[in-house]
Amino acid sequence: MKTTSVRLAVAGAAALALTLTPALAGAAPGRPGEPRFSEGADGAGDPYFPLAGNGGIDVLHYDLDLTYQLPDPAPAPLEGQLDGVATIQLRATQDLDRFNLDLRGLTATKVVVNGKSMRFDQVENELRISPRPKLKTGTEATVEVTYGGTTTRPRDIEGALYGWVTTRDGAMVVSEPEGSATWFPVSDHPTDKATYDYEITVPEGSVAVANGLLVDQETAGGWTTWTWDAPDPMAAYLATATVGDFELDTYTAANGTPIIDAVDPALPDSASASLALTSDMLVFFEEAFGPYPFNSYGAIVDDDSVGYALETQTRSFFSRNAREGTVAHELAHQWMGDHVSPGRWADIWLNEGWATYASWMWSEEQGRATAQENFDDVMTIPADDDFWAVVVSDPGPLCLFCGPIYDRGAATLHALRVEIGDDAFFELAQTWVEQYGGGTATTADFRALAGQVSGLDLEDFFDVWLDTPEKPTTW
Ligand code: ARG
Ligand code: ZN
Repeated sequence: MKTTSVRLAVAGAAALALTLTPALAGAAPGRPGEPRFSEGADGAGDPYFPLAGNGGIDVLHYDLDLTYQLPDPAPAPLEGQLDGVATIQLRATQDLDRFNLDLRGLTATKVVVNGKSMRFDQVENELRISPRPKLKTGTEATVEVTYGGTTTRPRDIEGALYGWVTTRDGAMVVSEPEGSATWFPVSDHPTDKATYDYEITVPEGSVAVANGLLVDQETAGGWTTWTWDAPDPMAAYLATATVGDFELDTYTAANGTPIIDAVDPALPDSASASLALTSDMLVFFEEAFGPYPFNSYGAIVDDDSVGYALETQTRSFFSRNAREGTVAHELAHQWMGDHVSPGRWADIWLNEGWATYASWMWSEEQGRATAQENFDDVMTIPADDDFWAVVVSDPGPLCLFCGPIYDRGAATLHALRVEIGDDAFFELAQTWVEQYGGGTATTADFRALAGQVSGLDLEDFFDVWLDTPEKPTTW
């Protein structure tokens, strides 16, 4: 958490002046030991998205009660009506007289904290709540936000569709990196993972597909409420509540994981052959990365397109088609990206490099191109190509999903595997998942663990592969 407020800076100056009594200075202007209430920061402190997430709070659980409907006929441009009550369980991580949640393009009409209506306002994409009584560090609170508005087709900083993307038959909900604020009040940064459950009410005939397991489905008066339970800690960008015409296919994979696939019946039957490989892939990736970390899995394949697929936790999202390599990629993300998430968005290569490398491994397993052949392919890119000009460990917010993040990221992992040997490489992969699963980790954490597991000094290796905007020649 960043402490950038003016008042804290003043307190710091006071601490310098009163060098004899730093404890007193820290508590000023109150008495020693008394809480000193202040505003939670408006962001989690990520340099790429300074306002994403929030300081001073740790969200534990989101209970999202959503009602969603499209006008009939669907208007052009596409718009829907979303109404929600988000019941958020959180803990104060500082003495708070105000804290923020991220909320973009929707209006909050009521905020209740611990059963009492509270004062709040909305400035840009920040919902600011002033709890009374104020919240002391470590206190848990229940925050209920009633909100709603018109949904559109939002775009991320690069211009790609994301967030709550209205479609002709519902919505595609895919929020990487900070698009969850387009559909619920949220601490929208991976460092604030929480558990989720959903009650999504849609016109009868529509299906609402979220993360985790479907626990109830009830129809009354022309509406169906879909209840989903997602008890595994999850980064906000991986939450989904996709709505549309879907056929649900439920089965159990060979490793015992319950699978729920949701495929739009308007699509030609192009995805089912790849989706049918999910069970074998789960077994294969468990060997590489350790036990599958969540309570369920499955795919959503919608007939509209955001132009990419997303590893929405336990329920990967695919646009129009689900090709085999992409199915492997999104499944591998469940370990690498979802269970272990990036500590900062600059660490995105850990997501995309691993998922891409996993698809190389799957290709080799299936008797197609080997990981080495895929690596060799990347290395045929000429040294003067722009591909090599990206600093993989710090690509900037406009290059989170650039080609080199995927392919040089994967090549880095292959080179590492050759460098340290298969045993150390897969021990590293599994220790990584075990040690950081359920939370986040950074590139520095990865470098440190690789060094520790292999017993080798890999600093030059990683400098060349991750930090240098040139084609690696020796490492
Ligand atoms: N993580 C996704 C994948 O590679 C890509 C997400 C792209 N998101 C975006 N806003 N452009 O599987
Ligand atoms: Zn990916």
